[in-house]
Amino acid sequence: MLKHIHLLFVALVAIGFIGRVAMAQYQPEMLQRKWIKLSPHILAGLLLLTGIGLVFQGDWLAGSYAWIVAKLILMFVFIGLGLMTMREQGQKRWIAFGATLFCLFYIIKVAFAKQVFFFL
Ligand code: HEM
Repeated sequence: MLKHIHLLFVALVAIGFIGRVAMAQYQPEMLQRKWIKLSPHILAGLLLLTGIGLVFQGDWLAGSYAWIVAKLILMFVFIGLGLMTMREQGQKRWIAFGATLFCLFYIIKVAFAKQVFFFL
């Protein structure tokens, strides 16, 4: 149940990020709306909280938990790259956008594999 909520927030964060980049590119004035400004913080916060909840629910700290540390760190990298995507313009924005999506993909890979390295 909690895992499905976590997965729902993963999807909402991904869709929200892509939507915000589209707005920054084509309709920047939309980003001024209060709920659009607030939503990424709420979604990321809930994603983090449900992740922490799952760690306790599954007793994941009892085994080797490097992948959880990796997810946490990568989530902050994802947020940083996402901010960069929103702030940069032109080609730099698209490079940051690609890097952000790659980071998200990497986190999902780590989530399933429960391994830190990409190729494992
Ligand atoms: C952008 C950030 C995140 C993404 C994309 C993400 C993605 C996922 C995915 C796809 C799963 C399902 C894995 C499976 O069914 O095997 C999952 C489960 C899980 N996530 Fe996250 N997650 C994120 C952040 C976090 C954070 C920050 C934590 C911990 C503080 C966390 C802890 C967990 C735990 C403990 C599970 C349950 C593993 C299981 O029961 O198999 N996640 N996450």
